[in-house]
Amino acid sequence: LLALSLALPALSAFAAPLVMGFSQVGAESEWRTANTSSVKSAAKEAGITLKFADAQQKQENQVKALRSFIAQKVDVIAFSPVVESGWETVLKEAKAAGIPVILTDRAVKVTDESLYVTFIGSDFVEEGRKAAKWLLDRVAKSTAPAINVVELQGTVGSAPAIDRKKGFEEIIKSNAKIQIIRSQSGDFTRAKGKEVMESFLKQKDKKIDVLYAHNDDMAIGAIQAIEEAGLKPGVDITIISIDGVRGAFEAMKAGKLNVTVECNPLLGPQLMQLAKDVVAKKPVEKRIKVIEGVYTADQAAKELPNRKY
Ligand code: AHR
Repeated sequence: LLALSLALPALSAFAAPLVMGFSQVGAESEWRTANTSSVKSAAKEAGITLKFADAQQKQENQVKALRSFIAQKVDVIAFSPVVESGWETVLKEAKAAGIPVILTDRAVKVTDESLYVTFIGSDFVEEGRKAAKWLLDRVAKSTAPAINVVELQGTVGSAPAIDRKKGFEEIIKSNAKIQIIRSQSGDFTRAKGKEVMESFLKQKDKKIDVLYAHNDDMAIGAIQAIEEAGLKPGVDITIISIDGVRGAFEAMKAGKLNVTVECNPLLGPQLMQLAKDVVAKKPVEKRIKVIEGVYTADQAAKELPNRKY
């Protein structure tokens, strides 16, 4: 027995590395690319074997990936759900297999919250509020009779699209002059952001004063559309977006974007620590929020060299 107990610490040094199945939304934005590389490098750093699956923005691909992780008996599943609903069945399958699930970046709507252990990600409602508060300050002294806003929403049914809309609307209510005159999804991509902005600009019934884009990539696409329409982005149309990616800081430096609300994608290191704690059955918080700021065009040149994504 003594010999066995002496051998145990040595044996644990050879314990198999923790295996994480990670299902990513896709590669739709600069934010997402930064998030993916943060997850991959943090896994390597933490000695975690990562099975990575890219869902190409399709829920059915994510469900398939989760089922394959369950079949492979991974130690822990982490995923960033493309949309909020429709997860109950597959999460029950993971629970029945005894595999803990960590939500990262985006939330799910489920009746039974025990279907996931914890959720680490930004507060998207708060991001929408921050965007609207900036606008309220900006127009506080305006004598214009109306302030017309067009909105580029993120992926339909996704938590950030739902919450960023909700937070923004909650705050603009206090100024009746601010009205959202058009709102459509640009699916979080530059190409769609440009396409939808082009169609907004073609409708000449009302002048567009402000663009609120649910992410920087759609704002950058829209900036192109605005320039092609012969207008000055950031001057003729005030532009507000969310994420704080390098491309947004470059656009702000060039005076084409007015403000970006930060949404930090560098969740990898925290996620890996969480995974270790969850597998070791240590208590973890049910909801872990990320601390973020707001950056305006006048801060862009100074901040740009410090940006990590
Ligand atoms: O879920 C986070 C959002 O998804 C980011 O704001 C966006 O850029 C990404 O595609």
